[in-house]
Amino acid sequence: MTMNAPPGVFDILPFCSKEEWRDSYLWQHVEELIRTTARDYGYQEIRTPMFERTELFKRSVGDTSDIVSKEMYTFLDKGERSMSLRPEGTAPVIRAFIEHQLSQAASIHKLFYIAPMFRYERSQAGRYRQHHQFGAEAIGNGSPEQDVELIDLLYTLYQRLGLTNLELVINSIGDAASRKAYRDALQNYLRSFLSQLSADSQTRFETNPLRILDSKDPNDRKILENAPSILDYLNSESTDHFQAVQILLKQLNIPFTVSPKLVRGLDYYNKTVFEIVAGELGAQNSIGGGGRYDGLMKQLGGPDLPTIGFGTGIERIIQTLLKQNVPLPAKEGPILFLIALGDDASKACFTILHDLRKAGIAAQMDFGNKKLSKSMQLADQLKAKFVAVVGDDEMRTGEVNLKEMATGEITKAPLFHLTRILHIDATTDHFLSIWEDFNKPFTQPLEADFFIKRINNSIKSTSDLVNDLQAAAQTIKNLL
Ligand code: HAM
Repeated sequence: MTMNAPPGVFDILPFCSKEEWRDSYLWQHVEELIRTTARDYGYQEIRTPMFERTELFKRSVGDTSDIVSKEMYTFLDKGERSMSLRPEGTAPVIRAFIEHQLSQAASIHKLFYIAPMFRYERSQAGRYRQHHQFGAEAIGNGSPEQDVELIDLLYTLYQRLGLTNLELVINSIGDAASRKAYRDALQNYLRSFLSQLSADSQTRFETNPLRILDSKDPNDRKILENAPSILDYLNSESTDHFQAVQILLKQLNIPFTVSPKLVRGLDYYNKTVFEIVAGELGAQNSIGGGGRYDGLMKQLGGPDLPTIGFGTGIERIIQTLLKQNVPLPAKEGPILFLIALGDDASKACFTILHDLRKAGIAAQMDFGNKKLSKSMQLADQLKAKFVAVVGDDEMRTGEVNLKEMATGEITKAPLFHLTRILHIDATTDHFLSIWEDFNKPFTQPLEADFFIKRINNSIKSTSDLVNDLQAAAQTIKNLL
């Protein structure tokens, strides 16, 4: 009997000809950019367990939400405690924050995670039972600037990845009192259409009427066209906050649209909520979403701190990159592929291989005694930058031909100094990019001044070093 992965989950593989988005090098590329972007915005990594007490999600995401009522992987552990696989990352982060009293360490905490989430959803394209999220949570600041910094982080990440054609949709769902007033108004409006609403919306009418606004059912959407707008029910504080958020988004040139129907599917939100949608994703078009959830920390027994966050699905990011034909970095091969001919060369190359790797230079060697042409083929498949064939001649002369695979250019190199040569070669690109930056004319006198000062400092420290060396040489001479 063959055993396949269960429905709705998938493997991420080094080569996946069937579905390119499952290629692990794409995941690494996205995760690397996530980490640098999170770092640039001052977010630090947090890792929480894969499962938590079920109660945590009931009290945060909400009993009536789809996630908690239908989609959680819940089980009794051997101590008869109800546990659930993490369906989302916010509640665990807040639980950990309270448990470890992080509020005492600093006044503002900016945390991020890259983690799998589990939801028993109907499996379809773009919707998985285990998906992966990059999430960020900013704790301790309730200002509109904090909202926009967080949205800007997500927006910058998408831009750095090369994604285009994304739509940022924002809304404010105000504080609890505004939402209560709006809920009543919405129910009053919908009551006369109750029998015409879809079955899902009829159920939500009593339990969670705001979620009806999210309905994808065409008839529901038609009925909702004339529904009251939540923006008319916000108190002045929420309205001012929302206005400020819009002004700041414009200041940073982040385009957005306001949709009073955006409510999001988790109960903990208040004030600003947002979603980023990608047309290419089809029915499951939300690539990322989040919002403020100022009351959650207190509700879970912690200090009353304002909080805002987002989650973005890594599967959906990669699928959008591919659908938009964004140029992606090529798979990186080894810097050097060594081909040894004969026992002596094999032995020497095995040590060279070890030295190269120790120095941080990715190198490969084919251990089997293959034909030269087969080894060359393998070097090509692995996308090696250079290939060196080492036989008796090379062992005798200590010289080897380094062939650059992309150009076919051959350069002679000392066999036993390959580590140093390739190490310097690897830094050349970086050096050239610095040189390119310096080569751009400085149009601002202050900018030029900044670098002149830095260069003068280097000249000074170099001349100090020369003086020290000369003094040391003189001391040695005097001793002789
Ligand atoms: P969410 O909207 O449920 O929010 O999920 C965030 C993102 O995860 C979605 O925009 C989507 O890209 C991805 N996603 C969700 N479910 C699936 C699935 N079944 N398959 C593939 N991708 C999926 C949250 O989870 C909140 N915790 C976000 C947040 C953080 N709000 C405040 N802080």
